[in-house]
Amino acid sequence: MPLLQTKQIVKSFGGVHAVDHLDITFDGGKIYGLIGPNGSGKSTLINLLTGLLPLTAGTVVVGDSLSISNINSSDMATYGITRTFQNVRLIGQLSVLDNILVVLTERNVWGALFERHGKLHLDQAETVLKKVGLWEKRNEHAENLSYGQRKLLEIARAVSMKANIYLFDEPFAGLFPEMIKIVSNILEELKGSGVAVVLVEHNMDLIRGLTDYCYVLDSGKLIAEGTPGEVLSKENVVEAYLGK
Ligand SMILES: Nc1ncnc2c1ncn2[C@@H]1O[C@H](COP(=O)(O)OP(=O)(O)OP(=O)(O)O)[C@@H](O)[C@H]1O
Ligand SMILES: [Mg+2]
Repeated sequence: MPLLQTKQIVKSFGGVHAVDHLDITFDGGKIYGLIGPNGSGKSTLINLLTGLLPLTAGTVVVGDSLSISNINSSDMATYGITRTFQNVRLIGQLSVLDNILVVLTERNVWGALFERHGKLHLDQAETVLKKVGLWEKRNEHAENLSYGQRKLLEIARAVSMKANIYLFDEPFAGLFPEMIKIVSNILEELKGSGVAVVLVEHNMDLIRGLTDYCYVLDSGKLIAEGTPGEVLSKENVVEAYLGK
């Protein structure tokens, strides 16, 4: 059963179709590559799937029945969808640990700050922060972390949300090799747990190494889909990247 499907979804900005009649399906237990040149609509698609932008047309189907055409970002967690941003978004004034606890306790920022955290949540936060190598930094304000560390914290936060679909918008960009290894392991682990993982990435070695199936966008349109080996050998995909 597909976890998420788009049916002819469109997003127009003025006259430009940033996303142009896309039909895409995500199943569980797979890592999907969402690739295409700059400006091809990858982030816009993720913004549509998480309700950050309203759809111009089309519907998103969650599970096998729930059809949505007016997506509300506050409903996304309920639908089991979570994401990271191409430009990291954390709560800079909160500690590393609190950035995770806000998610685990599902409280708003103030509620989470003043709540006495149960041992369960602290244990979960410790596990995920150790996984990304940030446990030692748990009391630092998020804004004091390096760029790479902030990316890892955002990934840790996304992973802390129990979801069925995880959308990662360029999680590897700007990371050192040892951090790339950590994030790759996290994506593989999520896949092993049966959820759908969607990876936007420009590095084709990572796409080949990690993904099971790829969707290729160009000017908002789906120009190819298949295994990474299949799509990356297609002439129209190579042309889209090199420019015609
Ligand atoms: N809020 C917006 N208002 C107007 N145009 C937008 C907006 N967001 C995106 N666009 C346009 O939509 C198109 C797709 O942009 P998008 O950011 O989705 O591309 P992308 O595939 O994520 O690119 P990149 O690989 O550079 O991150 C571009 O032409 C972009 O300029
Ligand atoms: Mg983008």
